Amino acid sequence: MLQDQITQYTAEINAFDTKNADELEQFRIRFLGTKGIIKDIFDEFKAVSPEEKRTLGKVLNEFKQLAEAKYQALNELTENSKLQTENSQLDMTLPGEGFEVGARHPLALVRREIIEIFNKLGFSVAEGPEIEDDWHNFSALNFPEEHPARDMQDTFFIKKADSSLSTGEGRGEAKGDIALRTHTSSVQVRMMEAGQPPFRALMPGRVYRNEAISARAHCFFHQVEGLYVDENVSFADLKQTLFYFVQELYGEGTKVRFRPSYFPFTEPSAEMDISCTICKGAGCQMCKGSGWVEILGCGMVDPNVLENCGIDSKKYSGFAFGMGIERIANLKFEIKDLRLFSENDVRFLKQYKTAII
Ligand code: PHE
Repeated sequence: MLQDQITQYTAEINAFDTKNADELEQFRIRFLGTKGIIKDIFDEFKAVSPEEKRTLGKVLNEFKQLAEAKYQALNELTENSKLQTENSQLDMTLPGEGFEVGARHPLALVRREIIEIFNKLGFSVAEGPEIEDDWHNFSALNFPEEHPARDMQDTFFIKKADSSLSTGEGRGEAKGDIALRTHTSSVQVRMMEAGQPPFRALMPGRVYRNEAISARAHCFFHQVEGLYVDENVSFADLKQTLFYFVQELYGEGTKVRFRPSYFPFTEPSAEMDISCTICKGAGCQMCKGSGWVEILGCGMVDPNVLENCGIDSKKYSGFAFGMGIERIANLKFEIKDLRLFSENDVRFLKQYKTAII
């Protein structure tokens, strides 16, 4: 009889208790599963007489609700107790895991130090685009039309999608070339075009040259260039400024010497050496035994460059200089392989976090 079965199962359900997930699942399958007891009873119910249906229907629904409620209640308890055992396995007294603190890139540290030194002399900072036209990177800077630096060997030229641009006339488009800048002297041109002297600024930035990557050369590197234009600026100002810079950067007593050189945009031009920071002039691998290392190029801004930028070269004169940050960092930290700077190995980068604050 259905009524008897229900009474018996009700007792069973009321008595059932567990916090074990497997046992609870057995219970669910046995009573509430698709082939479970409740399904069977409902099937049997279809066959009973209409009078019985009236009374039994209610009993049956209550029975079903009882089974479902039991299952839900026990399921909650089981989940809770599972969480509790997991929590009890956590040792809240263990120290937490520390989080990694990053470090400033050695090139950023050196760039900042260079900028700080020149700040004291009143130099501000100017920036410009890395993708440049021929005018700003070459022509305005007095590079002869056939200068080898314009050659595909050294410069990364950029193809323009709109070829009508390449036939452009007038300054800057004389050759119609667009390239990745090969030096930040292009920013000097932009600065001089935009205003009138006095100018006293540094131009830090990334530059590109078409070189095979090795320990000693890379297809991109970083520069800080400097420009000082005013009335009556002389080579003595240039020497004194750079001498001060070197004393600040590498310490007092560091010697400097200037060797005549050539740059299209300066006249006269020089390269500046300092006494080797590693062996203090005694001779070592870094200075190849000479006691001197070259750190920058410099010179008096060529009057042609001033005129190209709309500045009266009879009234104004100026000096400029440019250095590679990698080279300066190399001498400061003895980093011999240029590739380390762009590999982003944190073990390398973290060594320098306290070198300069
Ligand atoms: N622009 C030169 C270079 O990239 C450096 C330089 C700047 C030299 C200013 C002289 C004056 O090599």
